[in-house]
Amino acid sequence: MKLIRLFVFLFALPLFAQQGGMWIPSLLEGMNETEMQNLGMKMSAEDIYSVNQSSLKDAVPHFNGGCTSEVISPKGLVLTNHHCGYGQIQSHSSVENDYLADGFWAKSMSHELANPGMSVTFIVEITDVTEKVLKETENASSEEERQKIIEKNKQAVVENSPKEKWETNRVSTFYDGNQFMLFRVETFKDIRLVGAPPSSVGKFGSDTDNWTWPRHTGDFSLFRIYADENNRPAEYSEDNVPYTPKHYLPISLDGVAEDDFTLVFGFPGSTDEYLPSVAIEQLTETINPARIGLREVALKEQDVFMRKDKKIKIQYASKYSSIANYYKKWIGENQGMKKTDVVGKKKEQEKEFMKRVKAEGLQNEYGSILSDFDKAYAEFRDYDLAYNYFSESFLRNVELLRNGFQLYQLEQVLENRGKQSFKDRKENLLKRFKSSYKDYSAKVDEKVFEKVIEVYANKMPQQFVSSDLKQKNKAELTQEIYTNSALTSYKSLKKLMKGNPKKVIKKLNKDEGYAFIKKQAERFYEDVLPAYQNKRLEIDALQKEYMKAILTLSPKDARIFPNANGTLRVTYGQVKGYSPKDAVYYEPVTHLEGVIEKYVADDYEFDAPQTLIDLYEAKDYGNYADDGKMPVNFIGTNHTTGGNSGSPVIDAHGNLVGLNFDRVWEGTMSDFYYDPVISRNIMVDARYILFIIDKYANATHLINEMKLVHPKAGDNAVKKKRLIKNSQ
Ligand code: ARG
Ligand code: GLU
Repeated sequence: MKLIRLFVFLFALPLFAQQGGMWIPSLLEGMNETEMQNLGMKMSAEDIYSVNQSSLKDAVPHFNGGCTSEVISPKGLVLTNHHCGYGQIQSHSSVENDYLADGFWAKSMSHELANPGMSVTFIVEITDVTEKVLKETENASSEEERQKIIEKNKQAVVENSPKEKWETNRVSTFYDGNQFMLFRVETFKDIRLVGAPPSSVGKFGSDTDNWTWPRHTGDFSLFRIYADENNRPAEYSEDNVPYTPKHYLPISLDGVAEDDFTLVFGFPGSTDEYLPSVAIEQLTETINPARIGLREVALKEQDVFMRKDKKIKIQYASKYSSIANYYKKWIGENQGMKKTDVVGKKKEQEKEFMKRVKAEGLQNEYGSILSDFDKAYAEFRDYDLAYNYFSESFLRNVELLRNGFQLYQLEQVLENRGKQSFKDRKENLLKRFKSSYKDYSAKVDEKVFEKVIEVYANKMPQQFVSSDLKQKNKAELTQEIYTNSALTSYKSLKKLMKGNPKKVIKKLNKDEGYAFIKKQAERFYEDVLPAYQNKRLEIDALQKEYMKAILTLSPKDARIFPNANGTLRVTYGQVKGYSPKDAVYYEPVTHLEGVIEKYVADDYEFDAPQTLIDLYEAKDYGNYADDGKMPVNFIGTNHTTGGNSGSPVIDAHGNLVGLNFDRVWEGTMSDFYYDPVISRNIMVDARYILFIIDKYANATHLINEMKLVHPKAGDNAVKKKRLIKNSQ
């Protein structure tokens, strides 16, 4: 009995779980290196990140600020997801050359397509600058003043730290403001589209399969980095040449098996792993249901029209996908939170935390932090809820409201910054409207408006809803606005925006749609936003203290990783299946068989190209099959999040084995709590990518640029020998 208790106590000692984590690549030596080697990695920390010699990090650029990518040839060939290159692929497409539908493969370098405005960024060096950034903050009289000093110090670090002419310095914040890192980076601006499979491969399964396993998506596209004659970043020019990378990833033809080590290297965007239980409770019980509920009505209305009208289906495909993406994620996130009992687990950790605070005699510093959180979150609740209802309704899901809100901001620009700024902003807006109204259908939007405003008026904390909106019949309101407002078409809106600033504003204010939006926006700016921001600041300051306490109270080797913040990170794990619910077990690898099983001819989600079906029937898989079958996707225990799309999945030796693109539904609560039992990331098998490039697209010239390797050749020889020995 005693023994068991002791064991439980020891087990409970680390404040946070034993797996997961997104680690800073320059700080892997020690604990992470040991863990990775224990999982089977054959490299050293220095092979992953080094300033003195080329290392893996030199092959992993941030892709256009949002996704991740990797260099896979000595000529600057870059691999990322299809959904990351989607905008570029779309921008080169027309009805005659629909690269989204048919795919695109540049026959030679001269056929590669330029993408003005696009960039990829390499990390040259990472340095801890915490001391410099926190200098003279101890004496700050308020949180605001403290933040001001920090901003000034950051600026000074950026300006005074050495760099080459073509490089940039940036400082990022870690551990809620307890650590600061300087990133010296190099940004390339001539990035050309090289290849993309058709959407029926690259987006196979679309929204139905999004966030789910088993998955069968060839979510990849290819680009190339171009540099000037000195191999330095340069604006687009015909004279530019393919970039020679410091490092590029060889690609393994041996694939992965269950339990194999994997490392995912990339730029995860944002996570919140150290929130108190009260924050998780509020998120899952109040905020997520609100956002889910509102998006649900918007999606439902759009879907009705998309199903019966082909044109609307095309017009709304991308908007629908983007609303559906997080709608679906939040549902999965809430399920995972429940299944793992994150609130209960956090409460246990908090008990342990308080015990340690007491044991260390730190009650004065941290004794009240958890009750302060309770109080702050209770006060924050309604503002946060209102903030979410407002942004989901007025900034996101109803197009007329979103456009009208931008016009409201235009009016502010005139008041605050004068006529010239107004004119510039107006031109800009008109350009944006011109392209967005192409995909606008007033009758779809009208229905969405009616349903969303109904939810908004009924579910928004009532103290923030104006009495006339409460009383007004929503169907009537909708009809009035959509009959009379100029915001329902580009033509009428353009006409309304003609004239000098004063005239435009006068006309705008007479517009029924605009007047409605302005009224709601003003209420939001007066009643919600200031209090929301104040509370946010207070909670952030508490969170910073809590983080500091966790760092101080945890043992030296505790696995306390910083939240994702868009900077380069390493996460590692193993290829592993999982059990999503009772009696169900999911294997970790899918195959082309599954594509054929899901295939529905001409379906917008599950169609597949005939060439692919022919290759399947002929089992014409080249060098890329595994035991006669073509692997497509696999899952693992790597802790990833949004921004990790396009991240390389690297084997024990430093070769590319896959391409990260999603997570499994039940495990998406890993943004707040990573559970090794059900959190899995989803990757495309590198062999499927090679197969599509080679066998499907016949782009063998691209394969010839790459370095294909057989890292397991040795293992297999050993295994075979053993087998022979055993059977003798
Ligand atoms: N869920 C993935 C991510 O968060 C993929 C999204 C793109 N695919 C889609 N069907 N919407 O970005
Ligand atoms: N698809 C996501 C992205 O664009 C990655 C999925 C996730 O959130 O893990 O980054």
